[in-house]
Amino acid sequence: VVILREDYRPPAWLVPETRLVFDLDAHATRVHAILSVTRNGDHGEPLRLDGAGQTPLSVTVDGIAIDDWRLEGEQLVIPLSGGQHRVETEVEIAPDRNTQLMGLYASGGNLCTQCEAEGFRRITYFPDRPDVLSRYAVRMTADKARYPVLLANGDPIATGDLDGGRHWAEWNDPFPKPSYLFALVAGDLAVNRGTFTTRSGREVALGIWVRAADLAKTDHALHALKLSMAWDERVYGREYDLDVFNIVAVDDFNFGAMENKGLNIFNSRYILADADTATDHDYDGIAAVVAHEYFHNWSGNRITCRDWFQLSLKEGFTVYRDQGFSADQGSAAVKRIEDVRSLRAAQFPEDAGPLSHPVRPDAYQEISNFYTATIYNKGAELIRMMATILGPAAFRAATDLYFDRFDGTAATCEDFVACMEEASGADLSQFRLWYGQAGTPRVSASIDHVAGGGRATLRLAQRVPPTPGQPTKRPMVLPLKVRLFGAETATPLTDERLILLSDADETLVFEGVTERPVLSINRGFSAPVIVESDRSAADLAFLSAHDDDPFARYEAMQQLMLDTLVAGAIEGRADHDAVIAAVAHTLDDPDLDAAFVAEAVLLPSDAFVGDQLALVDPDAIFRAREALRRDIGVQLQDRWRLAYDRAPAVPYVYSPTEKGKRRLRNVALGYLAATDAADVAALAFEQFRAADNMTDRQAALTTLVNGDAEERQAALDLFYARYADNALVLDKWFQTQALATRDDTAAVVTRLAAHADFSLANPNRARSLIGAFGVNQRAFHQADGAGYRFLADQLIALDQLNPQTAAKLLPPLGRWRRFDQGRAALMRAELERIVATPGLSRDLFEQASKSLEA
Ligand code: ARG
Ligand code: ZN
Repeated sequence: VVILREDYRPPAWLVPETRLVFDLDAHATRVHAILSVTRNGDHGEPLRLDGAGQTPLSVTVDGIAIDDWRLEGEQLVIPLSGGQHRVETEVEIAPDRNTQLMGLYASGGNLCTQCEAEGFRRITYFPDRPDVLSRYAVRMTADKARYPVLLANGDPIATGDLDGGRHWAEWNDPFPKPSYLFALVAGDLAVNRGTFTTRSGREVALGIWVRAADLAKTDHALHALKLSMAWDERVYGREYDLDVFNIVAVDDFNFGAMENKGLNIFNSRYILADADTATDHDYDGIAAVVAHEYFHNWSGNRITCRDWFQLSLKEGFTVYRDQGFSADQGSAAVKRIEDVRSLRAAQFPEDAGPLSHPVRPDAYQEISNFYTATIYNKGAELIRMMATILGPAAFRAATDLYFDRFDGTAATCEDFVACMEEASGADLSQFRLWYGQAGTPRVSASIDHVAGGGRATLRLAQRVPPTPGQPTKRPMVLPLKVRLFGAETATPLTDERLILLSDADETLVFEGVTERPVLSINRGFSAPVIVESDRSAADLAFLSAHDDDPFARYEAMQQLMLDTLVAGAIEGRADHDAVIAAVAHTLDDPDLDAAFVAEAVLLPSDAFVGDQLALVDPDAIFRAREALRRDIGVQLQDRWRLAYDRAPAVPYVYSPTEKGKRRLRNVALGYLAATDAADVAALAFEQFRAADNMTDRQAALTTLVNGDAEERQAALDLFYARYADNALVLDKWFQTQALATRDDTAAVVTRLAAHADFSLANPNRARSLIGAFGVNQRAFHQADGAGYRFLADQLIALDQLNPQTAAKLLPPLGRWRRFDQGRAALMRAELERIVATPGLSRDLFEQASKSLEA
């Protein structure tokens, strides 16, 4: 069944009030739902309630049991005559058999919920769509010893004890919300409490709930929450609106976290941190996700989505907001580099492949498949472009207008854009194409200058590639920040200019250009496009040394490296001198901070090099990259040793400066390892052994795993022994091996899938092995197809337990068009095997069948 955006109709019935009574038990939970329903408009439609996996034990209308209800598919259909009724249903569900982790499920002995997008229907019968907003009152009863803590959305109302060792709690959420924001947690949990006083004086009780043994790892998350609350007041004027804000961490979770009103539920990997078990990257991720979920309170909860085609309304905007928060915590330039790197690693390939879809899709089979890098990360880029076009003051006025006008409603992407226009006077009619047209635009740029003259001419052309279902495209509005630098004087020749490229081709003239100009374009990555320019290696090296925009500097170095790697992969050899000189220059620049230098000198990934090529030869790319890595390592060995000797603070401090130092030092270790210098293994082993933090220990482990057999095994064994009882760290043990650049990685990964600690039931563990392997281009694309077979076997098995997580791991198989005939045939055969599997989920079917088509 395909759901179409154009088929949207307002709900036939509304549910202003919902009361839920839960009799909680892991094997058999009773849910009694009392819905006050009102007819929405003048029509004769019956009430249709969504359900999934359960059948009603009883249905009453206005207190009277009825038997003229029927099931249509999984919908409960109840004929109603009047305009207003009280409808009650009772169902029984089994949380401990819920392996999909949608609805009410068991994790680590506790009970929790996940309802977005369509999990609420697995708990009770309800119009499970985001435009039905209801006020919820919840009563839970449970065994007091097993489930001493009972949490739900909103404010706690009362608790009490019952006979037989049971107790109860009631919670009320005063804010009307869609069903996907419902949450409850019952468990044996400890709490790290804090308070935050909002600027209008509301004192909010904060709580981070985890198993008692993890309590010491929650300070970072609590701190990040307080910073987020203050940031949203300062930057967007948004204040928190309840007296309590709770976060619960669970080990079994399908994605990062969930913004349920007043009761966020998190994957524990985005809460728990201490120096010994979490990397700097983990610390960053925790702060970003805590901020993201908190920010959803306004961009998502106070204003929700009319339908799931509007998902980017809340996700794109909230990602943009969390990116801004993170940028303000440390180096904004490094944050932008990281965000662009992940956009290119995840979203660009998605947009260039069979699963390409617009930021506001037109159709879906399974909505869970649309929680994508396009909806989230490209969606954030759309907001960023509008902010760039409007400028900070008008953008803030526009978000104020949006929050004010749509508070308490279920809105659309169009509503958001209309506020941007109204508050600023800008005309965004052509800009709206960004929401509807998939595919990454390509911009070609070349600059002409007559020697001795004063005029430079910049020629720009854009092309939006065809994508599935969209063979032809119209030109879009691309905000490109541009500046020219003098090749001789190394000084700027112009101010930074914001060009709104809106035609297929445009020519721009710059006057007063007295020397040969070097073009700096798409500065700050102002538009999410691919720029194709004819800039020489010398000009890229020049920009990497002299551009005043840090992103553009990074970008010039990346382009230089990419050109070199592409040449190396195609021709089998390449001139490395320009890259090596540029890296040396960057390492020597005293004005650059370590975090930036570390990003700038890092080589593009194998996969990103592959994305530049019509036909990906994974082995040739790997060889080209290793050759360049070794040359950079060998020729700049003294510099890498100097960088390595600049030791960060002990004990571990998580701060922008110390983080940058560790990053650069570990990048240096990586380059030193490429030299085969006799002492490097010992250096890495000593770092592995002596490190007082996971950042350095894991970096050393990565180096050792790619090194000689003896040290590799010793390090893996030590790591395993030390962290065997810590699931999140054990994930790193699996992941590091799945990402290894060794020749036998496919075989190692296949063996690890049979390891006693491997389990498909836990999404983090499944992703740590299968997901990591899928992005290891060379290992996954081993020519005999062992990687493809392994992935398909795992997906078919995982689909039985958890379709959503299985479907998320499929995309690497969909890249078959980019590979030689032999590999492509093997990949297709695995996709066909998946599609032909009896009982396949809608989730995996949609992804696999689309990957074959198109
Ligand atoms: N809204 C959540 C977030 O962005 C993620 C929900 C993901 N849901 C899904 N079905 N994949 O934080
Ligand atoms: Zn989100």
